[in-house]
Amino acid sequence: MTDDATLDPGRLAERFGDRRVVVCVTGGIAVYKAATIVSRLAQAGADVRVIMTEPATRFVTPLTFQALSGRPVYTSPWQHIESDDPQHISLAASADAVVVAPCTMDCLARLATGRADDMVSLVLSAVDRETTPVLLAPAMNEVMWSQPATQRNVRMLHDDGYAFVGPAEGWQACRRVGPGRMAEPEEIVSALAGLIAG
Ligand SMILES: Cc1cc2nc3c(=O)[nH]c(=O)nc-3n(C[C@H](O)[C@H](O)[C@H](O)COP(=O)(O)O)c2cc1C
Repeated sequence: MTDDATLDPGRLAERFGDRRVVVCVTGGIAVYKAATIVSRLAQAGADVRVIMTEPATRFVTPLTFQALSGRPVYTSPWQHIESDDPQHISLAASADAVVVAPCTMDCLARLATGRADDMVSLVLSAVDRETTPVLLAPAMNEVMWSQPATQRNVRMLHDDGYAFVGPAEGWQACRRVGPGRMAEPEEIVSALAGLIAG
């Protein structure tokens, strides 16, 4: 899926300039890498809106993402920041592309079963994937990744029209080596660029 040509700064600006990209951050150890994704997208001229689950905010504070995106960060369905409409609907409808990075095992399960009970799954429940690509970047321990439930959820999400990048194989925060590590930020940005219509 990675299109190396889209890593060129000019091509990135062409793809992302004036596009609204929603970056959903869920609670895995790789949250710190999502900061690089937001920074790259902002540098490419995207209008970046960051949504965090409550667990994600325990790894990196919303302030980091607010500073990098230049926008308020959404952490609660109940706190309307910018819109008089239900904000999950306006965020979903105004997005040109959505990426979930890192995407936890639990988030995969929520999306596969059609849940909408946290800020990330709620916004994604309102995204029409026929018109708006949604890219998932799973990140978890190798045993969590190889669980039959996780693999079943991934297959269902493929069938439901979600796109995937990674996971990669390599060093994990739990000091093991194996599949489940989040794809690198550059690879995720490149995959997202490839999904956005030129
Ligand atoms: C230190 C720590 C690291 C974690 N890392 C991951 C991870 O890399 N991937 C994952 O799927 N879950 C990880 N978890 C578990 C999730 O945080 C937990 O399942 C949480 O409910 C996910 O919520 P969310 O998907 O709403 O963000 C970790 C938990 C802790 C305490």
